[in-house]
Amino acid sequence: MMRTRPLKVALLGCGVVGSEVARIMTTHADDLAARVGAPVELAGVAVRRPDKVREGIDPALITTDATALVKRGDLDIVVEVIGGIEPARTLITTAFEHGASVVSANKALLAQDGAALHAAAEEHGKDLYYEAAVAGAIPLIRPLRESLAGDKVNRVLGIVNGTTNFILDKMDSTGAGYQEALDEATALGYAEADPTADVEGFDAAAKAAILAGIAFHTRVRLDDVHREGMTEVTAADFASAREMGCTIKLLAICERAEDGASVTARVHPAMIPLSHPLASVRGAYNAVFVESDASGQLMFYGPGAGGSPTASAVLGDLVAVGRNRLGGTTGPGESAYAALPVSPMGEVVTRYHISLDVADKPGVLAQVATVFAEHGVSIDTVRQQGKDGEASLVVVTHRASDAALGGTVEALRKLDTVRGVASIMRVEGE
Ligand code: HSE
Repeated sequence: MMRTRPLKVALLGCGVVGSEVARIMTTHADDLAARVGAPVELAGVAVRRPDKVREGIDPALITTDATALVKRGDLDIVVEVIGGIEPARTLITTAFEHGASVVSANKALLAQDGAALHAAAEEHGKDLYYEAAVAGAIPLIRPLRESLAGDKVNRVLGIVNGTTNFILDKMDSTGAGYQEALDEATALGYAEADPTADVEGFDAAAKAAILAGIAFHTRVRLDDVHREGMTEVTAADFASAREMGCTIKLLAICERAEDGASVTARVHPAMIPLSHPLASVRGAYNAVFVESDASGQLMFYGPGAGGSPTASAVLGDLVAVGRNRLGGTTGPGESAYAALPVSPMGEVVTRYHISLDVADKPGVLAQVATVFAEHGVSIDTVRQQGKDGEASLVVVTHRASDAALGGTVEALRKLDTVRGVASIMRVEGE
């Protein structure tokens, strides 16, 4: 039966995502009411620029005083789509203190302060939902938190940044260099004027922290995530990848160690076989590949950014939280009971593709192979191409620790016959 008192919703932020949330709340009001069990009313919208025309939103709802809005005391749900750490963090905790549950799309805040925000929600008996914080419209948080709650997730391997996937896909399909592909991404509106957060992997690292925390029931903070950007990937790297039957993606990788006693989370460019489902994720799309004991392999795919897709995830949370409010209950909170240690990058074990420029003379290959052997790194394949007394040597290793590989490369750089280390790329997804 429909309850007549509406659920009051405040919107913090009315930009690309917030304006879509408001639009869909209005255009789908009847469906949302039927699904929640009560009308869902937009009770206020906090913005920075009150003079901007906001189609479909009653100007009387607009305010620049977000603090006063969340302190009203009659709100059921606060939707935070401002982004960044402050004032979002204070507004969310104030909303809990004043009786509201929160739906947020704020990956940076959740990756940094998720534990404290969950604690605040629990203290006040409220919900904190954030499906939109990772990979836009793709249902990922709820499947990991609820659908896979009875399984044991061992690995999450994802393309969680659309801008970088667009750039890498362009480099792969056209042979373009990084700068040329970035320029096109900027012209088409995928990359921001300052693309640092995307291309240096900060955005993906925040998402990796959130995914790892939920997947492994362990607190993983942004600082725990090893991060490397993709600005140094070259057209030559793509050519090498092709020769190995691979492509290159910027991956967020969250793994349980083989002995199950620790976890790791990292973001870096990596070669993956063309046969891997993630290799076929093109353009600005996102996809996340999950491996777990009972389910085996699952893949989640879709648009990872943009106003409308991100609003879809926000509204899904709004309906879920609304139902919880009406039922006088809350959904699942933080699950960090496993409290596994997060190991440093040196303990990650994977395969490597290393390109070296070397002198082409007797004994060089033996010298290089000896360095690998001395560091306990087993070579899988070696390919050499010589030209005018110099050669390019491509070594692909068996699985080795990042620390062992690092030591190998350091020693290789000291050899007189090694002119330079042209590139080092991890090989994943095999
Ligand atoms: N800038 C991100 C991307 C979207 O390109 O995927 C927001 O996380």
